[in-house]
Amino acid sequence: MDKLRVLITREQIAAKVAQIGERITADFAGESLMLIGVLKGAAIFLADLARQINLDTTFDFLAVSSYGSARQQSGEVRLVKDIDLPIEGRNIILVEDILDTGLTLTFLLSMLQARRPKSLKVAALLDKISRRTEPVHGDYVGFAIPDEFVVGYGLDFAEQYRNLPDICVLESGSESR
Ligand code: IMP
Ligand code: MG
Repeated sequence: MDKLRVLITREQIAAKVAQIGERITADFAGESLMLIGVLKGAAIFLADLARQINLDTTFDFLAVSSYGSARQQSGEVRLVKDIDLPIEGRNIILVEDILDTGLTLTFLLSMLQARRPKSLKVAALLDKISRRTEPVHGDYVGFAIPDEFVVGYGLDFAEQYRNLPDICVLESGSESR
């Protein structure tokens, strides 16, 4: 049986998302912005963040897949859905649920940078800094968390738990995952 332990409450998330939205609003004052969410995990964060940004803002989504089991990434990242809109000359914020090894972010940043945006920043709700193998960082980071597997607020385990309003540590009885 999986057990869930609340790590970050919905109130803490809401306060942090509002703060990040304020910072982005100040940093891009007078400019327009495009948010690019990484499906599916970032969908809920993007939906909340977009409503805390008081600027001319559009959004789009892309999807990647990485091979491996539900908890273990293999290191291969593949684009499975591209964005619909051109980004050349635009201010882009890539919106991620969580930065882990940084492989996904490295792949996406180089792909997007090649399309010559005006600026390219990263917003990530969660950051497992100790897991990083690639030299990438988030510009707007919600919470640094320890190396524990978390679910909720968009994050899944085998597609489950994305709808939990709080971010929870998934404590499983077995090591088999
Ligand atoms: P990275 O490429 O290793 O940085 O992995 C980033 C992706 O791994 C995230 O977008 C998530 O989909 C997934 N991931 C990493 N850690 C967790 C976790 O604790 N819970 C759920 N998904 C995770
Ligand atoms: Mg996932």
